[in-house]
Amino acid sequence: MTLDQPLRRIQTFVRRSSPLTSSQRQGMEEYAELFRILPGTCLDSITLFNNNHPLTVEIGFGMGQSLVAMAASAPERNFLGIEVHEPGLAQIFFDAGERQLANLKILEGDALELLSSYAPAGSVDRFQLYFPDPWPKKRHHKRRLVSAENAELIRRKLRIGGIFHMATDWEDYAHWMLEVMSSAQGYRNLAGEGQFHPRPDYRPLTKFEQRGLRDGHGIWDLLFETTSPLPNSHPTLIRR
Ligand SMILES: C[S@@+](CC[C@H](N)C(=O)[O-])C[C@H]1O[C@@H](n2cnc3c(N)ncnc32)[C@H](O)[C@@H]1O
Repeated sequence: MTLDQPLRRIQTFVRRSSPLTSSQRQGMEEYAELFRILPGTCLDSITLFNNNHPLTVEIGFGMGQSLVAMAASAPERNFLGIEVHEPGLAQIFFDAGERQLANLKILEGDALELLSSYAPAGSVDRFQLYFPDPWPKKRHHKRRLVSAENAELIRRKLRIGGIFHMATDWEDYAHWMLEVMSSAQGYRNLAGEGQFHPRPDYRPLTKFEQRGLRDGHGIWDLLFETTSPLPNSHPTLIRR
């Protein structure tokens, strides 16, 4: 590989298409332009919301009900959701449009690629990653979103004292997350070394969490705080 070749990431998702419901079509037609941000836009509060409220970024919000509920109940914060799944994008446009949310923006695409290129260092107050695809087969573990490389990417984008909040209903992935995050430089486990965190009040139950509970799974939350920054070694390609 030469230095000029872009890094090729392993995808953490599979794109699945399904027909849109009528409210999802309405979301796309009536509300998308209120919430959708253009690729290339600088991902910070000033550019996205014209204020300096703390920015929460959710990676993979699925159908988005919990993200809409969080944005509605915390108007003093800004929220940016990133997702690849078209029905989920359409649904969140509809739900956020019906509630006229002013503190939520949506970006379509691979969150890892977009954050890497367009989020300035230290611009994010909290990342949330709720019930990410568990990729349970050993040969697929490389597709898991929580990895040493992605922990570094996230740390670079968080302010010092910012939080990376993960939750999963897969016990094996919960221990994987704990191990990866406990070995990552510049983070502190808010629950104490080797411990999981109780679900914070601000996190509503998500769709995949409810599915996991119905299947008899346990739920594990992890909150890691950044204690020191990483140098922003990758260039950001930003449109303000
Ligand atoms: C298992 S679902 C969980 C959805 C939601 N967080 C919940 O708890 O109901 C995981 C979601 O993450 C999305 N996803 C996975 N990797 C992603 C990435 N790199 N960028 C954006 N979205 C991603 C998938 O499209 C999928 O909708």
